[in-house]
Amino acid sequence: MTSKTSRLDRFISQNSVYSLSDTRRLLAQQRIFVDGHLAYSIQQQVTQFTHVVLDGNCLNDSTAVYMMLNKPKGFVSATTDPKHPTVLDLIQHPQKNELHIVGRLDFNTTGLVLLTNDGAWSRKISLPETKLAKIYEVTLSKPLNDEYIEVFRKGIYFSYENITTQPAYLEILSEYQARLSLIEGKYHQVKRMFGFFQNEVLALHRTAVGPISLDGLTVGHSKLLTKQTIEGQ
Ligand code: URA
Repeated sequence: MTSKTSRLDRFISQNSVYSLSDTRRLLAQQRIFVDGHLAYSIQQQVTQFTHVVLDGNCLNDSTAVYMMLNKPKGFVSATTDPKHPTVLDLIQHPQKNELHIVGRLDFNTTGLVLLTNDGAWSRKISLPETKLAKIYEVTLSKPLNDEYIEVFRKGIYFSYENITTQPAYLEILSEYQARLSLIEGKYHQVKRMFGFFQNEVLALHRTAVGPISLDGLTVGHSKLLTKQTIEGQ
């Protein structure tokens, strides 16, 4: 789940026949390359995804994978489930069993789900401090009014967690439809926020997380994301 960093010498001793004390000599003999460049220090920091080559052999074969999926209704946001199909059942990728879900959606919620094997990235985008907007389209059972906008902006007290939700931005699209932008992801957050007004959510669809948006991806389909997309460039 995590992409831990470690020192180059420790990494080499754990992934080759050489000991920690051998690594200084390997470095001096210019036998180590890191991401295509000659290694310059045994103290260099590497992660599971850094391409470390010793004597022409790559010591790690883990590639960072970033994926998005347009989740249909009726799929569990989990890697296994005893009763229902999971979002992983919709994915075909040789490393799919390494992936974890970044920001789950409820069983009947549709839309953008992110998956990765890069724990550092998923932790970063899940933190409220990162302030990445998650955009939801919501269909309600009762008509909306402008009071919702102000209440959502000020935050709603959730007694279970003893927190007040971060400012959220609501755009009323029609009598029963709205677009909501949140920077956090508490359990059932959208449903509970509309629950404050006793207004049941009939349909919920996530269209974007920060710079990543569904952008026409067909329901049930997934696609790989590039480093540029996840970094918003
Ligand atoms: N908020 C909810 O209530 N459900 C979701 O699936 C996502 C956000």
